[in-house]
Amino acid sequence: MPPPSPPSSASAPASRHLRLWLRRRGRAGAAGATFAVALLAAALLLTLSYYASAPLASDGGSAATGRSPALVGLTLVRRAQEKGALCLDGSAPGYHLQRGSGTGSQSWLIHLEGGGWCRNLKSCASRQRSMLGSSRYMEHQVEFTGILSDDKSQNPDFYNWNKVKIRYCDGASFSGYVKEELQNGTRFYFRGQRIWEAVMNELVFKGLRNAKQAFLTGCSAGGLATYIHCDAFRTLLPKDSRVKCLADGGFFLNVEDISGKRTMQSFYSDVVRLQGLRERFTHCNSNMEPGQCFFPHEVVKHIVNPVFILNPAYDAWQVQHALAPEASDPQHSWLDCRLDIAKCSSEQLEFLQGFRKELHDAIREVKQKRDWGFYINSCYVHCQSLNSITWHSPTSPRVNNKSIAEAVGDWFFDRRGVKEIDCEYPCNPTCHNLVFTKPFKI
Ligand SMILES: *[C@@H]1O[C@H](CO)[C@@H](O)[C@H](O)[C@H]1NC(C)=O
Ligand SMILES: *[C@@H]1O[C@H](CO)[C@@H](O)[C@H](O)[C@H]1NC(C)=O
Repeated sequence: MPPPSPPSSASAPASRHLRLWLRRRGRAGAAGATFAVALLAAALLLTLSYYASAPLASDGGSAATGRSPALVGLTLVRRAQEKGALCLDGSAPGYHLQRGSGTGSQSWLIHLEGGGWCRNLKSCASRQRSMLGSSRYMEHQVEFTGILSDDKSQNPDFYNWNKVKIRYCDGASFSGYVKEELQNGTRFYFRGQRIWEAVMNELVFKGLRNAKQAFLTGCSAGGLATYIHCDAFRTLLPKDSRVKCLADGGFFLNVEDISGKRTMQSFYSDVVRLQGLRERFTHCNSNMEPGQCFFPHEVVKHIVNPVFILNPAYDAWQVQHALAPEASDPQHSWLDCRLDIAKCSSEQLEFLQGFRKELHDAIREVKQKRDWGFYINSCYVHCQSLNSITWHSPTSPRVNNKSIAEAVGDWFFDRRGVKEIDCEYPCNPTCHNLVFTKPFKI
């Protein structure tokens, strides 16, 4: 089953026939320092969310450390039907739990998987036939890498914590609730909120209720879910525990695209209407376009618990779908630039710098929040916490000589405040910029 084509759906990190090249700038020739990952069509049909499980290298980056990542089994939510917590197709949602040990045994790191959104019944219907809409298609085991790794050299601060990866199968960042929809004899379940509640309820009983420290994280659509659920997460934990949130690649901007259209806002408006999100969000008011409610810019205004914003200034997914979407580029003049930031013309780079400025302006409001942190590097990438190369390795991207893992750890444990903003592209020679042979097919 082919994933739907844009703009009917945007399963962020989803693509077939994609060849990803990770190029490190400023190294002896591009070829020598290039990690190549060929993701085959067949494999990708089964790993629509590959960014979440093996973002930049097919081995999850273990080549950098020489140790194979742990494989962690899938647990399906019990009595899911009774709890009303169901994937788009009505199957039970699931998560992968790896128990912590030693000093980490009372610490919990939760990761919300990403994978775009579906905006209408047609695009949700095709998700029902993939792991992004049905647990019937989910892998029984996934690799835990980057922030989920149990290898201390790859994940210095969280390696021995209890770790959970919650699978994404509701199409609206774990936040919808509609009883059910029936169309052409097919039933659709929009129950992301119930999935969040049911999984948290199980984890509370598995030890989360006694946690001394807890960290809610997520990437892409899961990064947006992290903003949405951060305060609710706090309420599940003991009062004296340290609880924070990390949203990776989830700061989606409400920008005008290259043709002056608000592509993301229209997209989000469809998602909000389809899944009844307006009623769910107290920050949503009737003067707003429905889609506005779903942007982090609005959501963060109301968050009380500390959040760390990890985002590249030139998020590759957003450049391809929010700034320069295919539909707004009928001449394909942006094609090369979307595939490889090094191929952008000076005019296109101006658009990208404008996009970076919009992110910085949006983050400016967050700067007032004293206990929040951020790390905005100038790389062409999307989701950096789940891969050892971008998270923490000798060749990691750095800002002020700190890897992302070091910066996030420093902030989580209050070793120092972290508010890092990188200089403008192409100033940072440590970036691993993604190079695509075909754009993300959403
Ligand atoms: C329902 O059927 C009609 C007519 O065959 C079709 O156009 C429409 O796309 C279908 N809807 C869904 C959600 O499959
Ligand atoms: C950067 O960090 C590394 C390891 O963390 C350290 O060895 C090196 O001296 C630092 N470089 C500078 C210029 O501070």
